Amino acid sequence: MRKVTTLGQFIIEKQADFPYAKGELSRLLRDIGIAAKIVNREVNKAGLVDILGDNGTVNIQGEGQKKLDVYADEQFISALRSGGECCVVASEEHDDCILIHSEISKNAKYIVCIDPLDGSSNIDVNVSVGTIFSIYRRATTEGTVCLDEILQKGIYQVAAGYVIYGSSTMLVYTTGKGVNGFTLDPSIGEFCLSHPDMQMPRDGVIYSINEGNYIKFPQGVKDYIKYCQVEDKATQRPFTSRYVGSMVADIHRNLIKGGIFLYPTTSSHPQGKLRLMYECNPLAFIIEQAGGRATDGHRRILEIQPESLHQRTPIFIGSTDMVEKVEEFIRLSA
Ligand code: AHG
Ligand code: MN
Ligand code: MN
Ligand code: MN
Repeated sequence: MRKVTTLGQFIIEKQADFPYAKGELSRLLRDIGIAAKIVNREVNKAGLVDILGDNGTVNIQGEGQKKLDVYADEQFISALRSGGECCVVASEEHDDCILIHSEISKNAKYIVCIDPLDGSSNIDVNVSVGTIFSIYRRATTEGTVCLDEILQKGIYQVAAGYVIYGSSTMLVYTTGKGVNGFTLDPSIGEFCLSHPDMQMPRDGVIYSINEGNYIKFPQGVKDYIKYCQVEDKATQRPFTSRYVGSMVADIHRNLIKGGIFLYPTTSSHPQGKLRLMYECNPLAFIIEQAGGRATDGHRRILEIQPESLHQRTPIFIGSTDMVEKVEEFIRLSA
């Protein structure tokens, strides 16, 4: 019989890898796993309960919030609040960070940045959505956590992960010692290890970009897209284009099959669209840990010094050879 390892068991087995106090990060990851199961339950029956559609509110990004954006945000924050290990949460759905003050969290050291529901535009049409999280550590428990302690470079993440609510639900995470993926077994309500030590292929044949914006892309990116489309047997071109529109789903597919995901600057999003703190950094950490590469076209994503919570960045992320190729086109066009 195949041995089943649940997420909870795996976290405890791997505790020895954590550089800091062991139990706290384990508990934090466990709390995120529990909130993910609650969100999964709601996503799964979304058409049956009144949770599809717009919430009638607009977030700091200027995006209309969906009911599920708000629901997922509440669930993750509530799990982090009651877990006692997290002192502050920065969420896509809140203008400012949320300080957690409670008796149980007075010694909490962990900072969590979260995109509670990634792929909002896909919620109403039964296409995969996700959750992305990033975990940092405070150096001290003295005084109230300040913004500068949150605005850490991605290289200082102690853990990061995503949940994909897809044809099956998976949780994939790293603590800086490789990447492991767990599939939710609905019959026992547990995430079970299904993808141990995930490795991204060094090269691939899939490119993922919203090509409808072609006219708005910088010249180097336009040149790279044309390169992807040229016929050349030796390099297996033309490449395949795949774009779900949920970053988590696009990156998850490319992580498994090999590929590149691109969200460059555009004339309408001159800083890029995707957010550094809770989308790009966690996914860059995971992809690098799986052997891939993530840059803004010039710099490693993980080395960008964040200046604000909702800062955006262009991103090129995926199989190393493909990311290096687009960087070459960007350099040549400069
Ligand atoms: P979110 O739903 O968390 O706001 O993120 C949406 C993001 C990302 O998931 C996706 O890759 C991208 O927006 C799609 O943007 P376009 O519709 O501009 O292609
Ligand atoms: Mn959004
Ligand atoms: Mn998102
Ligand atoms: Mn979101």
